[in-house]
Amino acid sequence: MLSVDHVEKFYRKGGMFSGERQHVLKNISFACKQGESLGIIGESGSGKSTLGRLLLGIEKPDHGTILFEEQRVQNRRTRLGNISAVFQDYTSSINPFYTVEQAVMEPLKLQMKVPEDRKSKLVTLLHQVGLDSSYLKKYPHELSGGEAQRVCIARAVATEPKCILFDEAISSLDGSVQIQVLELLKSLRNIYNMGYIFITHDIQAAAYICDKVMIIRSGQIEEMVDVEHLKDVQSAYAKKLLQMIIS
Ligand SMILES: Nc1ncnc2c1ncn2[C@@H]1O[C@H](COP(=O)(O)OP(=O)(O)OP(=O)(O)O)[C@@H](O)[C@H]1O
Ligand SMILES: [Mg+2]
Repeated sequence: MLSVDHVEKFYRKGGMFSGERQHVLKNISFACKQGESLGIIGESGSGKSTLGRLLLGIEKPDHGTILFEEQRVQNRRTRLGNISAVFQDYTSSINPFYTVEQAVMEPLKLQMKVPEDRKSKLVTLLHQVGLDSSYLKKYPHELSGGEAQRVCIARAVATEPKCILFDEAISSLDGSVQIQVLELLKSLRNIYNMGYIFITHDIQAAAYICDKVMIIRSGQIEEMVDVEHLKDVQSAYAKKLLQMIIS
């Protein structure tokens, strides 16, 4: 489904006129099958969100290619309805002047022409993320963090994309709400058979929801392991990351 080949990314360091460049992603290559969930973990500043933006086609790699079903992900057409994203900052991800109904309706309008169909899909989606129809007329400021994040998830799922990217999407929710959202993502995956790219600091969350985990360090893939073999990681860095969580 997704194929990343020798991707490199540089950012200019210290302002527009500085010639210095920071090598943020180095020789990144991997593939992800349809319906597969990949966790991307690594320290702060290791390049996870940058990789995420490249996978979403928001930014271009300086070298290398990213293909989604054989097509370049930079083309809007490749992405439309196929890839969506949920970010950490859910409060600013929803338009503050939109009700829940308007926010979730927006992506549905792109795909469904008949208004009655859209409305019934909307109610189904809200139900699937655990919100009843009393939420339809609410505005973002009337929602709790967990509820707002559910609305973002409903929006991301609306077009039934083949892949959803989550960048630290549940990190700011409190523990029990995190577990609820993880459960929700697991069940949605069973309904829609979509793949997830799950960027996080939290190995436990990644282990819960992903099939494979990529460990990234200073812009390089340090290791890629199946979740069942997470305990057998080889590199010292990956071992250290794991230990920090277990202890
Ligand atoms: N638009 C940008 N312009 C210049 N430098 C950037 C830009 N975006 C990111 N960087 C730099 O690239 C590096 C990787 O950043 P990135 O946001 O990808 O890290 P991350 O792994 O997502 O970190 P975190 O876990 O804190 O979210 C950092 O050193 C950051 O300062
Ligand atoms: Mg980040």
